[in-house]
Amino acid sequence: MRLFVAIVPPAAVLAELEDRTAWLRAQWPALRWTGPDAWHVTLAFLGEVGEQVLPDLGVRLERAARRHPGLDLAVRGAGAFPSAPRAQVLWAGVDGDLAGLRALAASVAAGARRAGAPSPDEGRRFRPHLTLARLREPADLRPLTTELAELAAGRWAAGRIDLIRSHQPGPARGSRPRYESLARWPLAQPRRAAT
Ligand code: 2AM
Repeated sequence: MRLFVAIVPPAAVLAELEDRTAWLRAQWPALRWTGPDAWHVTLAFLGEVGEQVLPDLGVRLERAARRHPGLDLAVRGAGAFPSAPRAQVLWAGVDGDLAGLRALAASVAAGARRAGAPSPDEGRRFRPHLTLARLREPADLRPLTTELAELAAGRWAAGRIDLIRSHQPGPARGSRPRYESLARWPLAQPRRAAT
């Protein structure tokens, strides 16, 4: 099964992001827009993983989550992969405790590797984002990323990671992958000052 580990923003943040980007969908109908049910910040993409790996993967991911405190995050700004002039993916950016987020992503990838589910992307620079749209053919999205430069859609306290299964769509045009959260683990509680 195809798996990845992600942070899923709360419904209020997803609704705000939907509100802030709704007008773009109408203006740019040629893009394959994703929706709030698909929005997440990928920490590690694992690719195809055998079912026998799941028990150990769960143990390792639980341990990785426990080692990191909750993170203050926000949706802010936008960009495109691989670049705005020849974009294939339009994304919303993530702001806040990025050093903590990067450290968490590294622990998750290391845990997955030890469980026998190494990320094919491990070693690539971690660029936290939420994918808003994909393009069949590369296109110049500079007008769009410029419009979205000031995007700000909610802050939240991220307190858990999710292991998510990606169900690949059939051949029908326009069909999208469906994401199913298989398990979730809490991040550590912030340490309280001793009284
Ligand atoms: P994306 O949103 O930038 O497309 C499920 O596919 C999730 O894993 C998506 O968030 C996707 O990122 C991410 N992902 C990271 N590397 C991937 C890869 N090599 N193939 C597919 N998805 C990948």
